[in-house]
Amino acid sequence: MKQEPTEASPRDAVGISAESGREDVKVHPDDPAPNPHATEAEVEAALKDTKLAQVLYHDWEAETYDDKWSISYDERCIDYARGRFDLAVGPAPLPYERALELGCGTGFFLLNLMQGGVAKTGSVTDLSPGMVKVALRNAEHLGLDVDGRVADAETIPYDDDTFDLVCGHAVLHHIPDVELALKECLRVLKPGGRFVFAGEPTTVGNFYARKLGQLTWKVTTEVTKLPFLSGWRRPQTELDESSRAAALEAVVDLHTFDPSDLEKMAKSAGAVDVKATTEEFAAALWGWPVRTFEAAVPDEKLTIGYRMAQYRAWLGLSWLDENVLRKVVPREFFYNAMITGVKPGAVQK
Ligand SMILES: C[S@@+](CC[C@H](N)C(=O)[O-])C[C@H]1O[C@@H](n2cnc3c(N)ncnc32)[C@H](O)[C@@H]1O
Repeated sequence: MKQEPTEASPRDAVGISAESGREDVKVHPDDPAPNPHATEAEVEAALKDTKLAQVLYHDWEAETYDDKWSISYDERCIDYARGRFDLAVGPAPLPYERALELGCGTGFFLLNLMQGGVAKTGSVTDLSPGMVKVALRNAEHLGLDVDGRVADAETIPYDDDTFDLVCGHAVLHHIPDVELALKECLRVLKPGGRFVFAGEPTTVGNFYARKLGQLTWKVTTEVTKLPFLSGWRRPQTELDESSRAAALEAVVDLHTFDPSDLEKMAKSAGAVDVKATTEEFAAALWGWPVRTFEAAVPDEKLTIGYRMAQYRAWLGLSWLDENVLRKVVPREFFYNAMITGVKPGAVQK
């Protein structure tokens, strides 16, 4: 299953996924079961209910999510997750004893952070029961000390002062009341505990990414109508399905962020030591058309050599972003935002 992509990330540059065949993961007894086959009536209702849309959409794609986004639990994604943490937070008292992830999906961020030495034990949570199940299965496969709950980030089902770290990746922009979710993070954090969220779209970045994506999709799907390029055209049913999936994303993608506004929101929620950071400018300007092109043509046309070349291009442009463009381009022009802050109180050792 493919769709018009909405998130630029190196996760999809090389495809290595964790094995995930086990069904005996320990889901919480009070949690609902996954619903991967929504009825037409449910889909209709979801068009007006963003949280229902989240559950249906992510339950539907949970079992294929790691493959679709080339999420792995090896060095490549450990380095990526740890790199985002280090960029957002800087030097920190690692490892944290107990960490919570909100909107965990299949566990990409927390499981890789744990493997990268950021936390010893973890709790994965998501609105989608299907995602929690896959995240717990991945954790078990990796031998990590992790439990999980189906949970809404606006009402986190854990006691006050429980965690040393709360984290999330590509989740804040899906939450209707982001400030409420940040308040909840601060409630469940111990005094001195830290939150860190990465992979959020900036407002300017999202604007150019969408425009570039739409243009590339249009050009690729039109040009591949030419008879001599027909081998590069995906079947119309698949293209239609991609467009429908993209329409559903309008229901689940609720926000884009200006880094300064994100900082104000975190402070207003009660956090101290707040800092927003951004990354990926040249890498995003290049990556969005490339990824949209890849989604619009048959998979078999994209050779390993091509994928590796794209990955190297992404690494090179990321280097340019970090070492040159960061010094001259305003931070709000970069595509990816991250935010960190601390719960006031005792200083962590
Ligand atoms: C774009 S996916 C990111 C998943 C994962 N963090 C990653 O980076 O691969 C967003 C995830 O947030 C979850 N989500 C959306 N709204 C949520 C909410 N209000 N509370 C908790 N999770 C939510 C979705 O179910 C989905 O799994």
